[in-house]
Amino acid sequence: KFQHGLTCSIVLLCLTSVSHSAPLACENLVRPLDQLDPHRLEGRWAMIAGSLSYPPFIERLRRRVSASVNFSNITAESVIVFSRSKHLENKCYYSSYNVSLEGNRFTFYNGNITTTFIHTSCHDCILMSFDVESGKRLHFYLFSRRRQLEEKEMEEFRAQVECLNMPPPVVLDPTKELCPEETADDPAVQPEEKTEEQRN
Ligand SMILES: *[C@@H]1O[C@H](CO)[C@@H](O)[C@H](O)[C@H]1NC(C)=O
Ligand SMILES: *[C@@H]1O[C@H](CO)[C@@H](O)[C@H](O)[C@H]1NC(C)=O
Ligand SMILES: *[C@@H]1O[C@H](CO)[C@@H](O)[C@H](O)[C@H]1NC(C)=O
Ligand SMILES: *[C@@H]1O[C@H](CO)[C@@H](O)[C@H](O)[C@H]1NC(C)=O
Repeated sequence: KFQHGLTCSIVLLCLTSVSHSAPLACENLVRPLDQLDPHRLEGRWAMIAGSLSYPPFIERLRRRVSASVNFSNITAESVIVFSRSKHLENKCYYSSYNVSLEGNRFTFYNGNITTTFIHTSCHDCILMSFDVESGKRLHFYLFSRRRQLEEKEMEEFRAQVECLNMPPPVVLDPTKELCPEETADDPAVQPEEKTEEQRN
């Protein structure tokens, strides 16, 4: 009798773990990168799509014409320069940070934003999860060397967003121009506006 009961509970355990295969798939879909080659980051990446855990900011994300990030000064020191540009209405906004890579993550904005690189099967993409103010908000952004991805690559991203229980992603228009490279002495360049927008 005891033996029989034991077998049943083992079977039950196995059945339970099978029925939990959906969350396991999510765990796999949104896993952080095991290894990050900093040299792979060098240069510019166009923003493809993104989702925000804080719905009031989604409208602002939608107004973004284009956006990009640029990693530079990649050295053995692991302190690299992370620059962002975004095109809003008809202005370009730039910001630049010295960040220190630690494994698959870095922190910036005086420690308020922790960025983790997440696995993606897209070969020329980077997927970054920005954890703002200790988890108060999550920004989940996909960047690529290309301006437009294949439908199956977009599907993977949508599935990842869904796994995180975030709103459906905003997809940027790939035909819109990226902001030009920032040049320090260009008077036309606008410094990044000092509003909540900055944390988007
Ligand atoms: C680039 O990295 C080197 C070595 O880590 C550092 O000395 C230099 O100040 C950095 N340059 C910029 C612009 O951050
Ligand atoms: C980054 O570090 C370099 C070298 O230390 C410095 O010249 C530069 O002003 C720093 N940039 C920012 C945005 O803090
Ligand atoms: C970081 O977040 C805290 C809490 O919201 C805020 O009070 C502080 O001003 C932020 N620091 C920076 C540098 O944004
Ligand atoms: C990326 O940043 C570096 C250093 O500021 C700059 O030399 C380079 O032109 C930038 N690239 C793009 C595409 O903006």
